[in-house]
Amino acid sequence: MPRLTHSPISAAILLGFIIAFGFTARGQQSRGGNASQSAIDRGRYLVTVQDCNGCHTPFDAKGEPDLTKMLSGHPQDVRVAAAPRLPLQGGWIVAINETNTAWAGPWGVSFTSNITPDRLTGIGLWTEQQFISAIRNGKKGGGGRELLPPMPWRMYAKLSDDDLKAIYAYLRTIPAVSNKVPNPIAPAAKAGN
Ligand code: HEC
Repeated sequence: MPRLTHSPISAAILLGFIIAFGFTARGQQSRGGNASQSAIDRGRYLVTVQDCNGCHTPFDAKGEPDLTKMLSGHPQDVRVAAAPRLPLQGGWIVAINETNTAWAGPWGVSFTSNITPDRLTGIGLWTEQQFISAIRNGKKGGGGRELLPPMPWRMYAKLSDDDLKAIYAYLRTIPAVSNKVPNPIAPAAKAGN
């Protein structure tokens, strides 16, 4: 009797394994580059508990994050003409618009960025290194001007490389939303001046 390892049945089983693992590896690759599923899951968890959606996802009319625009930043069709004159009476120094994505303060007006994988208006063309540098060093695009408040990059800068890589991997798997966020507006003259 021939040994089992040489039988056509074991060859078929072996081939089955190769096909199954090949597909699994390819399935993961198409969703998150070379990242593993566990890195993507960790990234989703970190994005959730650090409330990236609280700022980067515009609020709808009910004041809830509109998940059809998840993480796509300040909506391009919501125009903000100028910074309000701050401080307001009573010492209030920060104001937020109704979509929760335009923030006025002593720094002028900042707009939350599109961090979906859209290649033209989001971070679809960013390398992993650019992403790590944007958060670690608080730099626009990973190497430009300093990021404005309220992006809490000084706290997120303390995340480990693995955690930042996991967040990057997860962000590559979410739907790309085309939305061109405006540039920040310089501070208005102080009220009363
Ligand atoms: C409290 C509000 C707030 C939270 C929370 C927040 N961000 Fe931001 N983020 C901003 C603002 C505002 C900007 C734009 C700053 C600017 O234009 O200088 C920004 C910018 C960025 C940028 C730079 C984009 C670019 O074009 O250079 C990245 C990347 C980013 N945020 C990722 C994240 C991630 C990931 C999280 C969650 C871990 C997060 N942010 C949580 C407000 C926030």
